[in-house]
Amino acid sequence: MRSVIPDYLAEVLESVESDTSGELAGYIPELAAADPDRLGVAFATVEGVVYGAGDIDIEFTIQSISKPFVYALALADRGFDPVLAKVGVEPSGEAFNEISLESDTGRPRNPMINAGAITVHSLTGAEDLNPTERVERVVHGLSAFAGRRLEMDERVCASEMGNAHRNLAIAHMLRSHNVLTDDARAVVDGYTRQCSVLVSTRDLAVMAATLANRGMNPLSGEQVVPEPVVRQVLSVMFSCGMYDAAGDWATQVGIPAKSGVAGGLIGALPGQIGIASFSPRLDTHGNSVRGVSLFERLSADMGLHVM
Ligand code: DON
Repeated sequence: MRSVIPDYLAEVLESVESDTSGELAGYIPELAAADPDRLGVAFATVEGVVYGAGDIDIEFTIQSISKPFVYALALADRGFDPVLAKVGVEPSGEAFNEISLESDTGRPRNPMINAGAITVHSLTGAEDLNPTERVERVVHGLSAFAGRRLEMDERVCASEMGNAHRNLAIAHMLRSHNVLTDDARAVVDGYTRQCSVLVSTRDLAVMAATLANRGMNPLSGEQVVPEPVVRQVLSVMFSCGMYDAAGDWATQVGIPAKSGVAGGLIGALPGQIGIASFSPRLDTHGNSVRGVSLFERLSADMGLHVM
């Protein structure tokens, strides 16, 4: 029997299509040149069935959606204590690119903001990896979450690196507190490469479903990270994943989520589904305008709110 889900998803897309508010991410020139009208939504169940509507196979850069997955890799590679010693788990209530360091320790407040994610990048793999090997560890790990080998968009990477003044400033602050112990520029370069990994909405739904499936990719059957790591990651996504809009999101949508400035957005509902959307225009928090509306609609229609 043919599923009604794709028709439902197409109808949900149609309901948000006319909203052209928001702006492309202007601080990364290559992203500012993206097609603003792209729109897609996909679901992946923990049984490994994927449903979608719209532009679900168009690739775009993962950007900040890499942050929860790379946090998972760091926790799995180094263990909880070394990672928690360097990066907190409290919402910052500030924008994603604020410095947001704890005043006494210099620890970034959480791994979802840039300061935390730059630090987390440096905590992946073995301590003695060189920057190229560390990027490979990250791309390999992200690929395991997606269930296929992911590639990098070198143009977006170069475009962001040429304008990375703010992230470089953050990394130098982190280095001055000895939160970062590697060369600040090399870590920002690696973090920018991490953000430039190309994914489709379909890939993101599978990656989110791997979190929903307690770390096991439902397509490949690979246990990518251990279950306690996933619980930590989903908890931090719930409180910090939507930055200074995290409270609105928690009340109105109510599922662990993460956004990226290329327009991607994921949500993971433990034991059930991973959801992903793509629409490049962003609100003032850096979250996709139509993505947020889509998730509000899906959450209300299907009773996805965890409370
Ligand atoms: O570091 C940055 O600014 C970008 N590479 C990622 C920021 C991002 O995706 C924020 N999320 N909405």
